[in-house]
Amino acid sequence: MTQTFFVLNGPNLNALGKREPGIYGGQTLADIGEMCRKEGEALGFAVDFRQSNHEGTLVDWLHEAGDTAAGVAINAGAYTHTSIALHDAIRAISVPVVELHLSNVHAREEFRHKSMIAPAVKGVICGFGAQSYILALHALRSLTQTTR
Ligand code: DQA
Repeated sequence: MTQTFFVLNGPNLNALGKREPGIYGGQTLADIGEMCRKEGEALGFAVDFRQSNHEGTLVDWLHEAGDTAAGVAINAGAYTHTSIALHDAIRAISVPVVELHLSNVHAREEFRHKSMIAPAVKGVICGFGAQSYILALHALRSLTQTTR
């Protein structure tokens, strides 16, 4: 059966393309979603790509992923730095979760250096622009591959 990975996006990521392009690049979220789906197709898995500006919706989607997906890549946006609810939701599911960011959060303001979700995820990818999404999908694939 085809594996599905959820790719979840948090607040303000719907504004990619016009939001601080010097930091986040010129691609829209739709462009990145398309890129992820194509990568999944080439590698043999499905990608369910979603965005919400609401913390509770992201919590609901993590629970849903725990029941129906093989893994999750999440760019939680600013909730990365604040959300104990997302930390707990990640801990509450047993599929692997990879945290990702377009920008190198460690090279930016100090308030971005702390991630509330990092202790709950398998690993963190940041600083590679849109390519961070592709790297996160590859990480999930290697984490969930059974025959190697
Ligand atoms: C971000 C980094 C966060 O600090 C910021 O709040 C975002 C985007 C990134 O992808 O680089 O919204 O997650």
